[in-house]
Amino acid sequence: MKGIILAGGSGSRLQPLTKVTSKQLLPIYNKPMIFFPLQSLLRAGIKDILIIIAPDHAGDFLKLLGSGHEFGCKFTYEIQDKPEGLAQAFLIGANFIGDDNVTLILGDNIFEDDFSEDIKNFKSGGRVFAKEVKDPERFGVVEFDENNQAISIEEKPAQPKSSYAVTGMYIYDNSVVERARSLQPSARGELEITDLNNLYLHDGQLDVAFVKGRWFDTGTFESLFEAIQVVRQKELALSQENQAVREPLM
Ligand code: G1P
Repeated sequence: MKGIILAGGSGSRLQPLTKVTSKQLLPIYNKPMIFFPLQSLLRAGIKDILIIIAPDHAGDFLKLLGSGHEFGCKFTYEIQDKPEGLAQAFLIGANFIGDDNVTLILGDNIFEDDFSEDIKNFKSGGRVFAKEVKDPERFGVVEFDENNQAISIEEKPAQPKSSYAVTGMYIYDNSVVERARSLQPSARGELEITDLNNLYLHDGQLDVAFVKGRWFDTGTFESLFEAIQVVRQKELALSQENQAVREPLM
């Protein structure tokens, strides 16, 4: 299983924070944002990772992450010249993917869940992860039938058919490259990940799992702030635990 972290895009919703740096390099309490999706892949045992970045701050990613040696993995870098959609990752990454299956995680997504089992047990088709949210219109939204089977996914619908968002973690078999090649740009000129997921869904090959822990797409000021608060709480709790281990109770 190969891994891709997509850290392209212009971060326009976070201006002016993203005027001189990339969204995925912004701090989430004590770490750059991209460390979190990287950790999700590493925890799941993925060690061969392609990082797709926008041209503007490419050097900063290299400086931060290097070869991967420090993280016990291997990084490959590719540039996404223009923000032409998430599904473009599979065209840019076609050589890197080769004959393997691939997990894509978005560089601004922070998950508590551990995806090791999903990745270990993955055989074929596509697997996406849904989470109930308050603001589904910000996301790809899954529609379910009365038997809780996914029947469609809509990208940022004005009238969402459920409150379940598709999160930014996607596991695909090798046919993802061919499927991505068959996509046409959407009205906003992007190769949509939602269109790709619908190709799998219509072939009866998309499995929709659910995210159990907390999940953040840090693309807005509010969600960025919330993610920072949660990470801070977790870090403080952890350091208190560590101290308790070190200092025996009186
Ligand atoms: C993207 C996808 C959307 C998905 C979301 C998850 O949206 O297009 O389907 O629900 O990531 O984070 P973006 O946040 O890039 O607007």
